[in-house]
Parts: sequence; C-alpha cells; structure tokens
Amino acid sequence: MISNTYKIITYGCQMNESDSERMGAQLESIGYRKIEDFKEAQVILINTCCVRESAENKIFGKIGELKHIKQQNPAVILGVTGCMAQKDGEALLKKMPHLDFVLGTNKIHDLCGLINKLKAKRKHLVDLAPADGGPMEEVMPPKSSSWSVWLPIMYGCNNFCTYCIVPYVRGREHSRPLEAILQEAQQYAKQGVKEITLLGQNVNSYGKDISKSSFAELLARLDEIKGLERIRYMTSHPRDLSDEVIKVIKYSKHICTHFHLPVQHGSDRILKAMNRGYTTASYRHLIEKIRSEIPGCSLTTDIIVGFPGETEDDFQMLEDFMREIRYDAAYTFLYSKRSGTPAAKMENQVPQEVKKQRLQKLMDMQNEISLQINEDLRGKILEVIVEGPSRTDENVYTGRTATNKIVLWPKRGTEKAGDLLRVKIEQPQTWVLKGEALYE
Ligand code: SAH
Ligand code: SF4
Ligand code: F3S
Repeated sequence: MISNTYKIITYGCQMNESDSERMGAQLESIGYRKIEDFKEAQVILINTCCVRESAENKIFGKIGELKHIKQQNPAVILGVTGCMAQKDGEALLKKMPHLDFVLGTNKIHDLCGLINKLKAKRKHLVDLAPADGGPMEEVMPPKSSSWSVWLPIMYGCNNFCTYCIVPYVRGREHSRPLEAILQEAQQYAKQGVKEITLLGQNVNSYGKDISKSSFAELLARLDEIKGLERIRYMTSHPRDLSDEVIKVIKYSKHICTHFHLPVQHGSDRILKAMNRGYTTASYRHLIEKIRSEIPGCSLTTDIIVGFPGETEDDFQMLEDFMREIRYDAAYTFLYSKRSGTPAAKMENQVPQEVKKQRLQKLMDMQNEISLQINEDLRGKILEVIVEGPSRTDENVYTGRTATNKIVLWPKRGTEKAGDLLRVKIEQPQTWVLKGEALYE
C-alpha cells in the first residue's frame, strides 16, 4: 500500500463518473494522489449503480474481491458510495464487514470530513441523507480537466417511471444555479476544454424547481462561451423537450445535433404502465418536428424488453415502432425487477428466456438499421472532434461527429485530442465509421 493514494472504481452512468471525478478532487484537496492500481491504494472507493440486478451482482463480486486487501492491510480505507450505497446503507456494512464506510448519493460533498473521522476513530461509518433531503450542496469540480468534461446541471429525478430505482436513490430534481454552471463552463473553456457534456437524469426540466431559468436558456448561454467547440447533454425525456430547446439547438453553433430520446417501448399500453407520460403518437410527432427543424441530426434511444405484462403483440408493436422511427442506435436492456418500484409488484412478469429471445431479435433488427443509416454516409466528409488513439492501435485515431458517431482513421498528421478535423468516410460499419483524414 502506498500512503496518501486513492483509487475510485466507478460503475453505472455518466452521473456516477462525474461524481467520482468530484470525489477525487476532494481527496486531492487533502493531499491524496490518484493511482491506477487499486491494490496499491490507501483509499479505495467503489462508486456503485443499482439500476439493474446485473450491475449489482457485478459490484458485489468486486467488493468481495477487496476483502483480502483489507485483511492484508487494515490501514486501507474501503468505502462504498453511489446509488447502491444510498439504497442499502447499513445493510451493506452488515453483509460485508470489511467495508469501512457507506456514503450516500447526496453526501458526497462530505467525503473529506468522513475520511478524517475514520482516520481519528477508525469505526465503521454510514453517512446517508434522505435521498430527497433538500437541495444538493455544490461539490468541488475536478481540478485537472482534459479536453472533454462532464458538467452536472441537475441532480435527481421526479418522473418515477414504474420500473426505475433512480428517483429513490437520487432524490427529487434539484437544479444547480445557472450562474454556477456558466462560471464553471467558462473556467473550463479558459483551461482549454473543448467539449462539455451536461448531465442530469432529465435535463429538459432543468430550472423548473428554481423557476429562474430553463434548459433552453442554459444551452443558449453556454453556446456563447468562447473556446467550447462541442456541447452535449444527457438525458432528455421525450415528454419535456420543448420547442424552444429545439430552436436554440437549430440556431446554435456548438450544440451537438444528436438527440438521445429514450422511448423505452412502442406499445401505448406498456408506456402507460411504465408511467412515461407520452404516447407513441406524441413521440412520433416530436421526432418529426426535430427531423424537420434539424435535418441530418441523429437519434438514439433506450429500450426495455420484457416489462411485466408485455405480450407478443406488445413486442411486435415495439419492433414496428423502432423500424418506423429508424434510430441511429439503441441501447437495449432486459427488464430487471427492482424491489421498491411499482413494476416489481406487477403481475405477469415475463420469463427470462422470453425476454432474452425478444432482446436478441430487437438487437439484430437494430444493427441492420444502424448499418443502413451509416451506409448513407459513405463518401461524405464529416467534421470530428479528435479523441486520441484508438484502444487497439495507437496509429489509428478516433473522434466523434456532432451527431455522436465514432469515426476511425489512420493518423498521418499532427492532430491531437480536442482538435477539429475533417474525415472522409470510406468504410461505414454498424458501430463505427472508418475513413481518411483530410489534412489541408
Ligand atoms: N434518466 C435517464 C436514464 C436512466 S437509467 C432516462 O430516463 O433516460 C438508463 C436506462 O436504464 C433507462 O433509460 C432504461 O432504459 C434503463 N432502465 C432503468 N431501469 C431499468 C430496469 N429496472 N430494468 C431494465 N432497464 C432499466
Ligand atoms: Fe428513471 Fe424515468 Fe427518471 Fe429516467 S426519467 S431516471 S427512467 S424514473
Ligand atoms: Fe445507476 Fe445510479 Fe446512474 S442507479 S444508472 S448510477 S443514477
């Protein structure tokens, strides 16, 4: 073990990745240094997700794996943070007594205080505030920023989709003040950041709880910040995407033309049971509006297969709807029962085998559509923001288009992460576009 070092192992969504960065910044402010190998770290945090059972199982495995590290070296501080910490609290310590602490989702600003307490007394600690216990405190932003950063604009969710655990572990919607977000973005731009991704479970309702600002206004103000090339955001709820937001994006210079609008299902009966607050007709109308205002934009979605009561007919409607909308890509999930949510108590849970078959069918269909859509980009010249060498070959670089497509090309120039570059697409595939960079 190396003294005063830390490692945060992160699971789950971008909000968790952002929280991990902010917890890291706090640890650095009291003299800790980040290292890659968790086996050497003095403070090990597992930032957890509980959105599906599969995520939880993986995390339990990891926490178990850490047991012998703690046994070998009791000076190691082992903590669980994030959504599972908020959900299970004390029970986690009981189940896994080798843990030193459990820290809830809206207490992460208190991490340093907790570490100091542990150092003084070395007793097991649980620090949870009720998930809806008032506005989140401002949390320290990461100090060292790369060319691309996460920027949380709001926490929590008020939607209570009947399958989803997030509102229970993240609490009610709380927007950060507009000025705090703008200031942070300006600071990043000064440091050379080129891309920011705004984060929230439902970014379209940004500002509603503070009634002083709206998501449209926030986007418009961010678009004016000098130096920022790309502004992304996630996730948009289809019910709340306003005409004003579409207009701001249409006339903006830097807001990406990628819409991630999780539809979840294509049967109105299931959408109602999910409490999504829209119908296939209103969703279709929204997509038509977006596509006519912003031609060439891309559209992606999340889908849940096997929600309780899903019949063959419902599934057929889902397939038809996805074929009709033609998404660029879809993230498809098997419905996972989350205790405490209304759907967990619903009758007619779909057998796992049926869910799996349906999911496979949907993925095969979607892959075909994604490939067809990408095929239309053959020969086109697209502007990408450079991300750096690809994972498998350092001579092949990767970047993203404004529509969030991954592009690969052989590096022959001086491009570096954060640069804009034009690439001619020569070999479109299902998940990536391969091409040649145009160096002028
Ligand atoms: N707030 C975002 C994302 C929430 S979680 C949104 O509403 O889009 C990301 C995705 O996980 C959801 O879009 C949904 O498709 C999926 N998901 C959430 N709960 C789930 C569950 N119980 N089983 C399977 N998938 C789930
Ligand atoms: Fe979950 Fe629905 Fe909120 Fe998304 S909008 S986090 S799916 S409750
Ligand atoms: Fe998972 Fe929590 Fe995100 S449950 S998906 S880490 S908000």
